[in-house]
Amino acid sequence: MVSRAASSRPSKCDPIRVLVTGAAGQIAYSLLYSIAKGDVFGKDQPIILLLLDISPMLPVLDGVVMELQDCALPLLKEVVPTDKEEVAFKDLDAAILVGSMPRKEGMERKDLLKANVSIFKSQGAALDKYAKKTVKVLVVGNPANTNCLIAAKSAPSIPKENFSCLTRLDHNRAASQVAMRVGVPTDNVKNVIIWGNHSSTQYPDVHHAKVTVSGTEMDVFDAVKDDEWLKGDFISGHFVSMGVYSNGKPYSVPDDLIYSFPVVIKDKAWKIVTGLQINDFSREKMDATATELVEERDTAVSFLGA
Ligand SMILES: NC(=O)c1ccc[n+]([C@@H]2O[C@H](COP(=O)([O-])OP(=O)(O)OC[C@H]3O[C@@H](n4cnc5c(N)ncnc54)[C@H](O)[C@@H]3O)[C@@H](O)[C@H]2O)c1
Repeated sequence: MVSRAASSRPSKCDPIRVLVTGAAGQIAYSLLYSIAKGDVFGKDQPIILLLLDISPMLPVLDGVVMELQDCALPLLKEVVPTDKEEVAFKDLDAAILVGSMPRKEGMERKDLLKANVSIFKSQGAALDKYAKKTVKVLVVGNPANTNCLIAAKSAPSIPKENFSCLTRLDHNRAASQVAMRVGVPTDNVKNVIIWGNHSSTQYPDVHHAKVTVSGTEMDVFDAVKDDEWLKGDFISGHFVSMGVYSNGKPYSVPDDLIYSFPVVIKDKAWKIVTGLQINDFSREKMDATATELVEERDTAVSFLGA
């Protein structure tokens, strides 16, 4: 089924093909509008939106398409709802992989991981087979790090640096917490680092972060003046609040994409920072989350052959 959004406004360039998976879900519901009105890829960039979900969700997807049509967004040239990977991944410029297997009651962590490996293996292979070799891929569905690795491994013909996954949400949350504590706007806080897995071992690190207070830039520890909080509740509360209000809330993902996608789509590249000083406190936190990540990676990779 193919439907067109009405628009006759001449555009500056050819439309790009953007896939959102899990398109009938909660995150996609707020994300799609943001993409379609130009927040993510630019106000001059026409878009063809491909929406993938599983077959039982197709009626919901039809509703999503109608809502997008009702917006009559000038940048939106076409919307394609589908349950078929060969349609969804064809000639893609960008893929935002949101759909994943949710944890069901009583489900073992391993079984959940196995189900997600199966989804991201299949979608990685579809990227490899059908998408442009220049496609940029952002994985949102959790466990985002590991799902991203599996997708990248399953798409050997696409450069590894074209794959990334979402941690901007965690970064923004940590920056906001510091800003609220100091009583300044969030954009007065910079250089917050998020290390590791999307789980309770995730480490929001403010040892290199700066905050501007009354025009003066200072270390976060000097501005907050509460080391116990910064080394305790600030870190442990980070993931707890994630569980409470991250899923499906409209403000969590689109903002992140607005910031992160220009980096992956506009011919810019990310790079690994070297020579960063890591103190003993950070090292311990980083080691803990790295151990968990490696374990998750090994388990996931062991499912790849299955
Ligand atoms: N990385 C982050 O920062 C971040 C933030 C928020 C949410 N998330 C994750 O995003 C994911 C989606 O969250 P949600 O609230 O929209 O969930 P949701 O359950 O509302 O929607 C998920 C959608 O994915 C679909 N889906 C399942 N398997 C699929 C497949 N193989 N192909 C295509 N679609 C498939 C489902 O049918 C459903 O419509 C979750 O994994 C959530 O944990 C990540």
